[in-house]
Amino acid sequence: MPLVRETLKQADLTTADLGGVAYTSGPGLVGALLVGAAASRAMAWALDVPAIGVHHMEGHLLAPLLEADPPEPPFVALLVSGGHSMLIEVAAIGRYRLLGDTLDDAAGEAFDKTAKLMGLPYPGGPHLAKLAQQGHPDVFRFARPMTDRPGLDMSFSGLTTQVLTAWQKSDQSEQTRADIARGFEEAIVDTLVTKCRRALEAAGAERLVVAGGVGANRHLRERLAEAGAADGFRVYFPRLEFCTDNGAMIAQAGAIRLAAGQVDGPEIRVQPRWSLEDLPALAS
Ligand code: KG4
Ligand code: ZN
Repeated sequence: MPLVRETLKQADLTTADLGGVAYTSGPGLVGALLVGAAASRAMAWALDVPAIGVHHMEGHLLAPLLEADPPEPPFVALLVSGGHSMLIEVAAIGRYRLLGDTLDDAAGEAFDKTAKLMGLPYPGGPHLAKLAQQGHPDVFRFARPMTDRPGLDMSFSGLTTQVLTAWQKSDQSEQTRADIARGFEEAIVDTLVTKCRRALEAAGAERLVVAGGVGANRHLRERLAEAGAADGFRVYFPRLEFCTDNGAMIAQAGAIRLAAGQVDGPEIRVQPRWSLEDLPALAS
């Protein structure tokens, strides 16, 4: 509640201004989900406004709509966070088809594991990316997993193992650490760019939306923008603070669904496992 009060204060609003309460109802760890759901449901009940449970990844996916000049569906979305690496075909808001998924570790998880192995603090993604700036791109060349065969699924656990082996066999100097970080980042970015190009072609789409924590990676953003210029697709990124987990994206997804007339019952329900494909489509 102190956080809610502080947020309202900074936004120059009071609870009387609220038209609804949106909260993350899945997917994720049940304990955390229940805390948010119970607090949100109670607040909505006390304020006599509707409340709506939001799919965390739909929050990420729609985050670019918080920006001026937002993407219009249809588009393809690359969702890369600590728990997911997915390619989604978005026919309309609420109509999602999974084109590709991770078979093991998510992209963010691979960043975090690699960072941890080299002694960087958690969450390692941004630290590893910073270190990579000091590294040379062609000292360590790691595999680009699953790009040598068709398909849109991804797998990053083998890459993490490859990096571990290289690190253990190396002199573990500062420069080597940066070179390995750079080699790793190149491999992940290359793989993601290849998969995005293929997904856009498969879906016949001209717009790519990138969201989730790894979408904050500067190198990934540059390389996708270059690929877009070469292939003729446009790339939409939310600003950095809307890439990593944030409340604005959940508020927006909830507001869109409430405005479209969707309401949930008053019971406290969470969905630790929840596919984006199971979300109800919005009446247009
Ligand atoms: O979307 P997010 O904030 O939380 C989840 O829903 O998981 O994503 C967090 C993930 C972490 O794995 C973090 O290391 C990674 O995003 N991340 C980055 C960068 N910033 C955050 N990975 C690479 N480069 C970054 N700049
Ligand atoms: Zn997230």
